[in-house]
Amino acid sequence: MLYITYAPGPGPRACLGEGLARTELFLVLVTLLRRFQFVWPKNAGEPDLKPVFGLTISPQPFNLEVRFREKEKERP
Ligand code: HEM
Repeated sequence: MLYITYAPGPGPRACLGEGLARTELFLVLVTLLRRFQFVWPKNAGEPDLKPVFGLTISPQPFNLEVRFREKEKERP
């Protein structure tokens, strides 16, 4: 099950759309995972796991191979 942490910010109020946002993120992610395979390229070496700090924490730039999965009717 997808679990996204949400640290309540300094604001005094809760996000009213949190449930909707989580559901949308889940649907987008599982749709991508069902249709495509995300593969670390063979010649890319080890991934650089140092975080990039900004408004949010991001990964270092990286390349990823994206492959179509089998046809729709062959999927479970
Ligand atoms: C990834 C998506 C989202 C993030 C990261 C996010 C984040 C936040 C944050 C940080 C706040 C301020 C909370 C505070 O004052 O401490 C907030 C408030 C709010 N959010 Fe979201 N939100 C998201 C999606 C949504 C969606 C989809 C909706 C509506 C459909 C929504 C509706 C609201 C509303 C109405 C407030 C104000 C609540 C109030 O002041 O009582 N949010 N959100």
